[in-house]
Formats: sequence, structure tokens, C-alpha cells
Amino acid sequence: MRLLNKPNRLMLTRICYASIFLIVMLFSSPAWAQEVAPQDNATQEVPGLDMSEATIAKGKELFVGRCQSCHAVTDEVVIGPGLKGVLERRELPWLLKWIRNSQALIQSGDPTAVQLYNEYNQTQMTSFLDLSDDDIKAILAYVKSAENQQQEAAADGAAQAEGGEAAQASGLNSSYLTAILVGLVIVLVLVLAVLLLIVSLLTRFLKNQDLPEEDLEVVNEKIDLTAPFRSKAFLTVVGVFFLLVVAKAGIDSLMDVGVQTGYAPTQPIAFSHKLHAGKYQIDCQYCHTGVRKGKSANIPSANICMNCHGEIKRGSPEIQKIYAAIEKNEPIKWVRVHNLQDFVYFNHAQHVQVGQIECQHCHGEIEKMEVVQQRSPLTMGWCIDCHRKTVVKAEGNDYYDRLLQFHKANAGKKPMTVEDIGGLECSKCHY
Ligand code: HEC
Ligand code: HEC
Ligand code: HEC
Ligand code: HEC
Ligand code: HEC
Ligand code: HEC
Repeated sequence: MRLLNKPNRLMLTRICYASIFLIVMLFSSPAWAQEVAPQDNATQEVPGLDMSEATIAKGKELFVGRCQSCHAVTDEVVIGPGLKGVLERRELPWLLKWIRNSQALIQSGDPTAVQLYNEYNQTQMTSFLDLSDDDIKAILAYVKSAENQQQEAAADGAAQAEGGEAAQASGLNSSYLTAILVGLVIVLVLVLAVLLLIVSLLTRFLKNQDLPEEDLEVVNEKIDLTAPFRSKAFLTVVGVFFLLVVAKAGIDSLMDVGVQTGYAPTQPIAFSHKLHAGKYQIDCQYCHTGVRKGKSANIPSANICMNCHGEIKRGSPEIQKIYAAIEKNEPIKWVRVHNLQDFVYFNHAQHVQVGQIECQHCHGEIEKMEVVQQRSPLTMGWCIDCHRKTVVKAEGNDYYDRLLQFHKANAGKKPMTVEDIGGLECSKCHY
């Protein structure tokens, strides 16, 4: 009889609320959202290929524009072979060379290339000298994703036929996790319904019994759904949890204030690093004359452009803008991309000349960018993190001889990092 007494009922309703709350939190938590977010076509990774949606979309565009006239993403031969499974047939470096310039590869005597060429009656594939490695990898990522989709469609068909065995064999990916979770939720809801049913049946049954006054009171009492909300302990737990979630979201967004990763403003002249530093391999220092000498890398003046554009492409409207600037005796108004706050001291020569760090380490693959984009966050955490990890290149630098001896005496075999030479001291970076 005591089974349905007041505290027990209260407990039951609390459990119901707690499970509903948990389910809601589970679905709305960001960690869960990330678990669900990746598309199915990203599930089969290929080493060396970025299978993100953006890359695949870019690859699709390139494929449709450049390759579709001769290739299908299936087995089907159009003019050239179907590209399905090409990443398994061929190595990635080979594919990069082939797609950029198949004739060069054939002429170099590469046996695979020669065989392929003969197999297709010496039909020449177009050369794509203007495609970067990243472009080609994007195309291959698209080919792979199309392949994965075909496979999944096939697996789904097989699953229907064989009772899901094929689908399970392809691994426990995110869509199965979703299915399992939805299943769990349904089970929970069912359990809840059954429990409520039992309660109401029991109540009805007990009402018809001859019960002592005291027990009847308990049986007749309505189930109070609001009771848990009057329980202090329950409210405190929920409240604290809620506050924690809000605080985490708040801190995350505050950490991003002022971080400009990805910033890529349009410049007044369509100057391309991909063309100048990539294709024509002009040394960075030819234009950024300060990198080895001083604090600032320098943006080249129009005169430096004129060393070449006095002759090259004079008629181009973009080049005419350089002439216009020189005529008016005004500098070209480049939009600054990287910009540390005024209270931070950063020196290029210290990092490039002394520290021997490549530009790309901090600026990304500039030589592949049509428009310069900020790739690193430039936050204090970013500077400090590298200073903690990076070993100072002290060999052959007399300046460090004494320091190195001192470090060896104190720290033994542990390599000397930037931190050890004082790279974490506030005053080194702050005026
Ligand atoms: C004018 C037609 C044509 C175009 C356009 C073309 N290809 Fe080809 N491709 C061929 C032919 C033909 C072959 C077979 C080898 C040969 O005859 O040179 C081939 C072979 C290949 C192979 C080797 C396949 C294998 O089985 O090893 C790959 C990879 C490839 N092409 C990728 C591409 C990509 C990527 C593009 C677009 C950027 C592209 N092709 C554009 C005609 C073309
Ligand atoms: C032919 C001259 C030239 C060469 C060579 C060159 N650059 Fe530049 N660079 C420029 C010009 C002009 C700008 C300003 C316009 C812009 O941002 O695109 C610039 C801008 C930049 C910026 C962004 C500056 C800012 O506003 O924050 C970085 C970083 C950079 N270059 C790095 C490099 C690296 C690394 C290389 C070598 C791989 C290189 N550059 C080679 C001319 C050059
Ligand atoms: C060392 C030689 C050299 C220097 C210095 C140089 N360029 Fe160039 N630039 C080239 C070459 C080569 C091309 C490609 C011309 C072609 O496509 O035929 C080119 C192409 C261009 C184009 C594309 C023009 C078009 O319409 O296709 C622009 C814009 C340009 N440069 C701007 C600049 C600016 C701005 C500077 C100075 C910051 C600069 N260049 C410095 C060699 C140079
Ligand atoms: C250790 C990281 C690091 C390395 C390595 C590095 N840079 Fe920078 N670069 C920066 C930072 C940080 C800024 C922003 C500086 C500022 O706002 O005062 C910057 C700014 C620039 C600018 C904008 C103009 C200026 O001087 O502020 C150019 C151009 C540039 N870098 C080119 C280069 C080139 C070329 C190399 C390689 C020779 C290089 N950088 C190597 C971190 C780096
Ligand atoms: C890629 C790694 C890397 C990053 C990122 C980096 N640094 Fe450094 N930094 C170094 C190395 C390596 C040295 C040591 C060079 C040497 O041998 O003196 C150094 C040295 C310094 C020094 C001189 C320290 C001393 O004790 O002499 C200052 C100041 C400095 N960095 C500031 C910065 C600032 C500010 C940033 C961020 C905007 C930054 N660094 C980002 C690698 C890095
Ligand atoms: C290796 C270089 C480096 C060192 C060492 C360093 N800082 Fe910073 N600090 C930075 C950079 C870069 C920023 C700018 C961050 C930004 O703009 O997001 C910064 C920003 C700050 C800010 C402003 C907060 C903000 O996000 O705008 C404070 C305060 C600060 N630093 C204090 C310190 C103190 C205190 C120390 C010593 C314990 C120190 N820093 C050591 C590089 C450094």
C-alpha cells in the first residue's frame, strides 16, 4: 500500500522531468550538434584530401566546368575513362601531375601514363596548368564524394534487401548514432507512458477497495505535475546547469571578439600572390623588403611594380591603376589585412631572420592566394603557444652561445624553447 505514498509519487514525477530535461539538453548541446552536422559523404576520409563540404562544392564547380565534357564520376567512359575509383587505382602525387599536364607525364616515359594514353587511342587530355594542387584535390574530393554517395545508395538498396546487414557493415557513422538516439528516446517515452498507465490503473483499482481513511487520502490525491518545480534542490540543480551552459556560450563568443581569421578584403588593384609569388615565383622579399631587416615587412611601393610593369601588360586596366597612382603621386591605397593592436610589439626580422620561421607558418600558403587572407588568429594565446613549443635555432648563432651553455647547465637535455629565452615575459611583447 505504501508504494504509492506521497514521496514516491513525487519521486516519479521528478524522474519524468529529469529525463525530459536530459533529452532536451542532449539534443541542443553543441557537442551533439557537431556529431550530427557532417554530411554523410564526408564519412569516408581519404588521406591528403580535405573532404569538407566547401571543398567538395568547389571541386564540383571545377569538375562541371573543366572535366565533365570528357569524364563521368561513374564507371562510364565518355571520352576519357570514368573516374570512379581513380583514387584507389592511382597515387595522389601521380594524379596531381597527370591532371595538370598529362602530356608532360607521358613524354617523361611514366609507364602508367603511357599505357593509359595508348589504351585510349592516344586521345590527348587537355592540360590544366592553371589549376593549383588544392584545386585538383578539390576535384578529386568531389569525385570521391560522388562515389561515396553512389556506394551509400547501393548500400541502402542492399540493406532493404538483406535486412540492414550491409548498412551495418559500413560502420557506426553519425547517421546510425542518430538512429540509436532516436530509438532510445522512443523507448524512454514508451516506458514513461507505461508507468503512467500503471499508476492510473492502480489508482482506479485501489479506489474500489475497502481502505482505511488514511490510505484513501493518498489514493485520491491528484498527481501533482508542478510539485518538482516547488522543490528547491531540483530547481537549484537545473538553475546551475542552465547558468553553466549560458556562461560557456558567452565565454566562447567573447574569445572570438576581434579575432579576424579569414579576413580577406578586396584590394584596390586585383594583385594576385598566386600569380606573382606562385606561378612566377617572385621572392617574397623582392616586394616585402623589410622582413629580414626590421619590425615591419613593408608593402611595396608602386615603383617596385614598375620594375616589371613598365613593360609587362601595360594595356591592362588593372595595371593602368598603378600608372594613375604614380601620376597623381599618391600611394596605392592597399587595405591592411593583418593588424595587431597598438600595444603589441611584433618584429618580422626576429622571427624570419633570427628565428628562421617560414612566412607560411604564420600567413598560410600566400603563394596560392588570389586575394590575401588572414590565416592565423594573431591572439596572445597564438603567440604564446608557439613560444612554448618552438625550439630556438641557436646553432651557429654566436649570440646564443652563452645562453645555450647556461640552459644546458640548468635544464640538461631539454631543448631551449623561446619560453626559455624569455619569450613569455609580458614586456617583450607589450610596450
Ligand atoms: C578533352 C577531354 C578531356 C578533358 C576535358 C579532361 N580529360 Fe581527363 N582524360 C581524358 C582522356 C582521353 C584520358 C585517357 C588517357 C589519355 O588518352 O590521355 C583521361 C584520363 C584522365 C585520368 C586518368 C584516369 C585513370 O583511370 O587513371 C584522370 C584522373 C583524369 N583524366 C582527370 C581529369 C580531370 C580532373 C579533368 C578536369 C580538370 C579532366 N580529366 C579533363 C580526356 C579528358
Ligand atoms: C610582386 C610583389 C609581391 C610579392 C612577390 C609578394 N607580395 Fe605580398 N603583398 C604584395 C602587395 C602589393 C600586397 C598588398 C595587397 C594585398 O594584400 O594583396 C601584399 C600583401 C601581403 C600580405 C598581407 C599584408 C597585410 O595587409 O596584412 C602578406 C601577409 C604577404 N603579402 C605575404 C607575402 C608572402 C609570404 C610572399 C611570398 C610567398 C609575398 N607576399 C610575395 C606584394 C607582393
Ligand atoms: C618581377 C616582375 C613583377 C613585379 C615586380 C610585379 N609584377 Fe605584376 N605581373 C608580372 C607578370 C609576369 C604578370 C603576368 C602577365 C601576363 O599575364 O602576361 C603580372 C600580372 C599582374 C596583374 C594582372 C594583369 C592582368 O590584367 O592580367 C596585376 C594586376 C599585377 N601584375 C599587379 C602588380 C602590382 C600591383 C605590382 C606591385 C606591387 C606588381 N604587379 C609587381 C610581373 C611582375
Ligand atoms: C611568427 C609569425 C610571422 C612570420 C613568420 C611572418 N609574419 Fe608577417 N606578420 C605577422 C604578424 C603578427 C603581422 C601583423 C603585424 C602588425 O600588425 O604589426 C604580420 C604582418 C605582415 C605584413 C603586413 C605589413 C606589416 O609589416 O605589418 C606583411 C606584408 C607580412 N607580414 C609579410 C610577411 C612575409 C613576406 C613573411 C616571410 C618572409 C612573414 N610575413 C613572416 C606574423 C608573421
Ligand atoms: C611560429 C612560431 C611563433 C609565433 C606564432 C610567434 N613567435 Fe615570437 N618568436 C618565435 C621564435 C622562434 C622566437 C625566437 C627567435 C630568436 O631566436 O630570437 C620568437 C621571439 C619573439 C620575441 C623576442 C623574444 C626574446 O626574448 O628575445 C618577441 C618579442 C616575439 N617573438 C613576439 C611575438 C608576438 C607578439 C607574436 C604574436 C603576434 C609572436 N611572437 C608569434 C616564434 C613565434
Ligand atoms: C609573445 C607575445 C606576448 C606576451 C609574452 C604577452 N602578450 Fe599579452 N598580448 C599579446 C598579443 C598579440 C595581444 C593582442 C591580442 C588580441 O588583439 O586579440 C595581447 C593582449 C593582451 C591584453 C589585452 C587583452 C586583449 O585580449 O585585448 C592584455 C591585458 C595582455 N596581453 C596582458 C599580458 C600580460 C599580463 C602578459 C605577461 C604575463 C602578456 N600579456 C604577455 C602578446 C603577448
